[in-house]
Amino acid sequence: MEQTYVMEYKAPSEVKDINVVNTHELEMMAGDIIPHGGFDYISGGSGDEYTLKQNVDCFNHKRILPRVLADVENPETEMSILGHNIKAPFIMAPIAAHGLAHQSKEAGTARGVSEFGTIMSISAYSGAKFEEIEKGLNGSPRWFQLYMSKDDEINKMIVDEAKADGATAIILTADATIAGNREKDIRNKFVYPFGMPIVSRYLTGAGEKMSLNNIYAQSKQKISPRDVEFLSDYSDLPIFVKGIQSAEDALLAIGAGAAGIWVSNHGGRQLDGAPGSFDTLEEIAKAVQGRVPIVFDSGIRRGEHIFKALASGADVVAIGRPVLYGLAIGGYKGVKSVFDYFEKDLKRVMQLAGTQTVEDIKQTKLYDK
Ligand code: FNR
Ligand code: LAC
Repeated sequence: MEQTYVMEYKAPSEVKDINVVNTHELEMMAGDIIPHGGFDYISGGSGDEYTLKQNVDCFNHKRILPRVLADVENPETEMSILGHNIKAPFIMAPIAAHGLAHQSKEAGTARGVSEFGTIMSISAYSGAKFEEIEKGLNGSPRWFQLYMSKDDEINKMIVDEAKADGATAIILTADATIAGNREKDIRNKFVYPFGMPIVSRYLTGAGEKMSLNNIYAQSKQKISPRDVEFLSDYSDLPIFVKGIQSAEDALLAIGAGAAGIWVSNHGGRQLDGAPGSFDTLEEIAKAVQGRVPIVFDSGIRRGEHIFKALASGADVVAIGRPVLYGLAIGGYKGVKSVFDYFEKDLKRVMQLAGTQTVEDIKQTKLYDK
C-alpha cells in the first residue's frame, strides 16, 4: 500500500496554562487542534478499541470507601522511587513522537515534567535528541525506554548514550514486538512526519515517512528473559519490564533480574480483547510481594484512578495520553497544568478517603463486593 506522506504536518505551538476540568474534555480540546492523522495515532487503540475503553471502565470494578473521623487535613503526595524524590506518585509514561502534538516536541514535555517535579520516561522513538530533551529537563530525573534492535551491539550503543544522558533506569518495553491492529492509522495511511534520532542507527529511514509497522519490523521481536539479563548486566542500571499483564510474566521478569515491573497494556494499543490493565494489577502485585517496585499505567484519567492503583499494589502510576493533550494545548505550561490537575484531584480523593500520605493509600482496602 502506497504510504501517503503528510508533508505539511503542522503541530500546534501555543504555550499557556490550562484550566483542566477533566482529562476527557482535554482530549476533545486536543482533538480540535492536533492534525487529524496525528490525533488518531495518539488517541487511537487497536481493533475494536475494547481494551482502550476497558482501561478506564475497569477502575469501577473496585470502589473507594469514604472515611470520616480520620483526622486528616492537607494530604501529602510526596514520595520517592529508586532514590528520586517526586512531588506526587505519578510519572510520565514513555511516548513516541511528541512533535505530533506540539512543535516543542519532547523538550516541551520535559520542561513541564521538570517544573512539576517528577520523572520523565524518554521513548526510544522520541522525535528529539537527548540533548534537546535535556534542555527541557534541566537535570531532572529521567528513565530511558528501549525498543531493542535485533543487533545487541546497537543496543549497547543506545544504552551507552542513555546512560551518558543521565538515565537512572532502563524500561524494556516487551509488549510491542509488532504493532497492534491500529485501524485508524491504516485508514489514514499514517506515517511519522519526522525522524527518530535515537534509533536512527538501526532504522533504514530513521523513522521519517515510516509507518509503525515497518519501524517495529526493524526492532527486535524475539524478546525473552535473556534480554533482561543482558540489559541488566550491560547497563548496570535497574531494568523495568514494561507491558506485564500476568503474574507469570512478572515472575519471569524478576527471575531474570528485573528491578521493576511495569504493569501496562500499552494503553489498549496492542492486543485488543485484553482486560483493562487495572484488572490485572492486584494478582501481579500479590505475586511480586513487594520484591521490586511496580509502575502501573493504562487508563489513568482521574485522581481516583491513581488512588485505586496505589491501593491495589502499584508504587507509582505513569500518565500517558493526558500529558500529550496538555502539551498540544499549552506546550510545557500545558503539561505542568495536567500534572497539577492530577495532584489536586488525588489530594481531594485522599482527604475524602481519610488518607494523609501515599503510604496510607497503599494500606487502604478497596471495596470490591
Ligand atoms: C505510547 N506508549 C509507548 N510505550 C512505550 O513503551 N514506548 C513508546 O514509544 C510508546 N509510544 C506511545 C505513543 C502514544 C501516542 C501513546 C498513546 C502511547 C504507551 C505508553 O507508554 C503507555 O503505556 C500508555 O500511553 C498508557 O495508556 P494511557 O493511559 O495513555 O491511555
Ligand atoms: C505506539 C508505540 C510507538 O504505541 O509504542 O505508538
